[in-house]
Amino acid sequence: MTWGFGKVILLGEHAVVYGQPAVAGAVDRGVRMRAATCDGASTLTIPAWDLAVSCADEHPVADALRALLDAAAVGRQGLALHADVTLPAAAGLGSSAAVAVAMARAVAPEAPAERIEEIADAAERCFHGNPSGIDVALATRGGLGLYTRDDGLAPIDAAPVPIVVALSGEPRTTADMVARVKAAVEGSPRAMQRIEDLGACATRAARALSSGAVDRLGGLLGRAHGELASLGVSTPVLDALVEGALIAGASGAKLTGAGGGGAVIAYGPGREDEVLERWTAMGYQAFTTMVGATSAPESDT
Ligand code: PMV
Repeated sequence: MTWGFGKVILLGEHAVVYGQPAVAGAVDRGVRMRAATCDGASTLTIPAWDLAVSCADEHPVADALRALLDAAAVGRQGLALHADVTLPAAAGLGSSAAVAVAMARAVAPEAPAERIEEIADAAERCFHGNPSGIDVALATRGGLGLYTRDDGLAPIDAAPVPIVVALSGEPRTTADMVARVKAAVEGSPRAMQRIEDLGACATRAARALSSGAVDRLGGLLGRAHGELASLGVSTPVLDALVEGALIAGASGAKLTGAGGGGAVIAYGPGREDEVLERWTAMGYQAFTTMVGATSAPESDT
């Protein structure tokens, strides 16, 4: 069986599309893939998402499956892929990249990490159009790192960061949100300053994490949420979740991933239970996780 990590972007989403740095880490949730042989066109089944497609189907996920099999040059016949997923879909936690990486590893078991990323990227492009590559890098390599489009993922030598995650339950697509930010950037020079400020927050966070000054993270999260909201990718629900976390004693909170829905993260060491309780009382699903996981969780199969 193969594995792809889910991820949390601590700082720098959207800015990373424009070449700025982002700080992100893998979580101990992700996608475990089983491969078996089958007759006819290759298939992908993800029961947790109620999804079953074959290479012969007309479906966006079938497009991604075909792109991935073609990138791996393994043909489109005879492979049944079955995914066990412990990540919500379309929540900004890197679920599509985790599926793509677990699939890439299943079809090219001997390939090195760079090649896995290349194969998985072919599938990601079907969903995201112009992905920065951060999701695929984390899904492949795990750990905590500073990512740039030019230099890829540079590991940050720091302990995993305890984070609370809330799921807004609001549907959105990354591609729409990336397009929204593009329109903002094209429409006003102030938006590009916001992108640069988001990159600066990520650089500062990387420095804080590697020098043990992790308490600076809260302030940086809050500032980044403000910039992301000004770029138009927050929602009233995401803002309310951020506010709820702060009321519960978190030192900072922000949307994570593309926004427009999806997830909110909060950093508040020692206040995780209060944040969880507050979010649950508001009616949202929430969980705690360590950001910076380096190994897949034990399989129970
Ligand atoms: O797909 P998500 O929600 O994990 O967002 C990915 C992060 C973005 O910076 C918004 C897009 C990208 O390709 O980096």
